[in-house]
Amino acid sequence: MLRFLTAGESHGKGFTVILDGFPAGCKVDTAAINGEFLRRQAGYGRGKRMKIEQDKAEIVSGLKDGFSFGAPIAIFIKNNDFSINKKPAIYSPRPGHADLAGGMKYNLKDYRLVLERASARETVARVAVGALCKQFLGNFKISVFSHVIQIGSARVLKKIGQNSIFKLAERSPLRCVDKKAEKEMIELIDEAAKKGDSLGGVFEVIAQSLPPGLGSYAQWDMRLDGQIASAIISVPAVKAVEIGSAVENSFHFGSDVQDEIFYNQKSGFIRKTNRAGGLEGGITNGGSLVVRGYMKPIATLSQALSSVDIRTKKQVKAFKERADVCAVPSAGVIAESMLGFVLMRSFLDKFGSDSLADIKTNYKSYIDRLKNY
Ligand SMILES: Cc1cc2nc3c(=O)[nH]c(=O)nc-3n(C[C@H](O)[C@H](O)[C@H](O)COP(=O)(O)O)c2cc1C
Repeated sequence: MLRFLTAGESHGKGFTVILDGFPAGCKVDTAAINGEFLRRQAGYGRGKRMKIEQDKAEIVSGLKDGFSFGAPIAIFIKNNDFSINKKPAIYSPRPGHADLAGGMKYNLKDYRLVLERASARETVARVAVGALCKQFLGNFKISVFSHVIQIGSARVLKKIGQNSIFKLAERSPLRCVDKKAEKEMIELIDEAAKKGDSLGGVFEVIAQSLPPGLGSYAQWDMRLDGQIASAIISVPAVKAVEIGSAVENSFHFGSDVQDEIFYNQKSGFIRKTNRAGGLEGGITNGGSLVVRGYMKPIATLSQALSSVDIRTKKQVKAFKERADVCAVPSAGVIAESMLGFVLMRSFLDKFGSDSLADIKTNYKSYIDRLKNY
């Protein structure tokens, strides 16, 4: 089974990730992994740390001449800011962070020890995994991309065709395809920065060209919608996940929101709408998969919030680490990685997992069978 584990601390030596179960015979482009790191770091509203780190993937094991051979793939990403041993101890837990609950759980009173591992810097390792999964899915013309649809109260209202979203988002500072909405978003971020405040928002991740039949309704943990929701909500600060237009759908009568089924000789089964976001009964239905992540505003504020000194139990201001004002575009890129991982895992479940050649054969025979379904 495809799985991965990460290790590393925010100001430690770096991050290591081991991706196990990656099939043999896949070409891996290391430059493309570094390209994904750059996408993760970009986005209007990010803080100074992003200027310090220039993430580069060092492939430690599992590739020979740029190809996988079925062995676990280990990747190391060095931290330029390796200062964990010089950092001050933290005794005032930050609201909105793992500090207090994590300190209680692990019996730690220096919250530095919680912060270092709970930090979103860990997601650089997940993006390395996502880059590999996206490259694998590319063999089957499956693409995964994201864009921002809301920052604070500023929202995208203009409808843009799915096929243009990727190109437009890549060119824009907030990964937003609606120029008018993006201008409002940037103004809001500037206002928050000036006030020492922060913002959250909503990103949308889209996977295109998926075959129908990934996931299953047979058991609760095989449902792909559940696996996707879990993966996306595991991105730090993402507090809600929506599949398709689920929130809007909940306001309407059932007759208004189902995606009716039609058939024609040339295209087979078709839908004129995709309100279900490409999933029915926990299975991909052949439509584009559309997932939204709702990110809370960044918790660390330059106008520090109230907290308590764990040693004296006196009221103090919470510790402040250098922080982003808004990180929604980056969270979207991380969510692409998580979605890419879940989709690849499910794809290997269906089509086999040892070698790319066998997987391609199985995939083709399935697609051929569907043509006569
Ligand atoms: C890309 C990214 C960057 C983040 N940057 C910061 C930051 O600079 N400051 C901060 O307080 N939280 C930041 N967060 C959010 C925290 O990591 C997160 O809120 C915290 O670990 C607590 O977890 P929770 O919000 O999921 O409960 C970031 C999250 C992401 C995805």
